[in-house]
Amino acid sequence: MDYSKKHEISVYLTEEQLNQRIAEIGAQITERFKRRVGLSGLYPERIYLFHNRTCKAIALPMTIDFISASSYGAQTHSSGVVNIKKDLEQSIEGENVIVVEDIVDSGNTLSRLMQLFESRNPKTLTICTLLDKPDRRVVENLQVDYTGFVIPDKFVVGFGLDYDQRYRNLPYIGFVEDAD
Ligand code: IMP
Ligand code: MG
Repeated sequence: MDYSKKHEISVYLTEEQLNQRIAEIGAQITERFKRRVGLSGLYPERIYLFHNRTCKAIALPMTIDFISASSYGAQTHSSGVVNIKKDLEQSIEGENVIVVEDIVDSGNTLSRLMQLFESRNPKTLTICTLLDKPDRRVVENLQVDYTGFVIPDKFVVGFGLDYDQRYRNLPYIGFVEDAD
């Protein structure tokens, strides 16, 4: 990757749109889980803008843990091989687990993670994603419970999403118009 290159990025979802949708999803999750005990939010990456705001939008006592998985290098297409780079620190056995993902693309990462989580016997397992690109799905039977926005098959950055580690800090979601 040429780090001197600046990409052309067009705004697709503004910070206001993102925050409003996150507040809605947070309220729905709060309503659904308010009478249950043992809530764990699992974040498949280090905490970024979506994760940060989602956990604040869930008004319930909960634990938060992180797992780091990757299927991408510098490319914009999934390699199909998912590496667990850092595992959870807490047990999720018997917990109501909400997996908070930024984007579901091929679905490889999340379906691999769901297999792993299921093997640890949580009470319930719920998937929440900010963005979904259903046109790109290659795995079957991945049921996403909460979706912020369904987006077209274009590479997006911002709000925590990166293109080879760049652009995570953009407060909006944008399309990389000239991705390699
Ligand atoms: P999947 O395994 O193909 O579903 O990809 C999941 C992961 O790939 C996401 O958690 C992101 O980290 C990354 N990813 C997929 N699509 C995009 C995109 O358009 N922009 C930035 N990252 C993406
Ligand atoms: Mg991710």
